[in-house]
Amino acid sequence: MRILVTYFSHTGNTAKLAHQIALRLGAKEEPILEHDKTKGVAGILKGALGAALGTTRRLASAEHDPADFDLVVIGTPVWSFGPAPAVNAYLDAHDRGCTRVAWFCTLGHAGDSATFARMTRRSGKEPVACVSVTEKQLGTDAMDTRLEAFTTALNAAMR
Ligand SMILES: Cc1cc2nc3c(=O)[nH]c(=O)nc-3n(C[C@H](O)[C@H](O)[C@H](O)COP(=O)(O)O)c2cc1C
Repeated sequence: MRILVTYFSHTGNTAKLAHQIALRLGAKEEPILEHDKTKGVAGILKGALGAALGTTRRLASAEHDPADFDLVVIGTPVWSFGPAPAVNAYLDAHDRGCTRVAWFCTLGHAGDSATFARMTRRSGKEPVACVSVTEKQLGTDAMDTRLEAFTTALNAAMR
């Protein structure tokens, strides 16, 4: 089974989680990159507002085409209780390309369910499974337990 783990990460948390997921699934891993990243506080404010409004960002070209995979696992930080604008852009660009999808996110403390619901609505696709990990859980046993449940659900659904 060909699996792609792709994600946007501003400060590295979602990238760390993506790597752990890719290792466990034996998947290809690729970041979702913005074409022109706005740095610093301006970038954060723009991201927070854009996420709240469900806007998109122009993306840099990607190495992998999600259409070449059986499962595409898409990750985002929770921004204003929603996915980051770059992830909105990815979902819009590949709404037909992804056969089966799963969602993951990192967050401070709240907004994972709302974020997954918005990703599902935007893509028009029900995820096979979802997992969220808080900043505090990253790299701990709690993260391992959550990833175990996530990969078990994915493997069962894709059998
Ligand atoms: C613009 C912005 C908005 C955020 N909104 C939320 C939020 O609504 N709920 C939450 O729990 N954490 C929120 N956070 C915290 C991030 O979700 C958290 O730090 C995440 O792990 C960052 O992932 P990254 O390092 O991959 O960018 C926000 C952070 C930023 C910068």
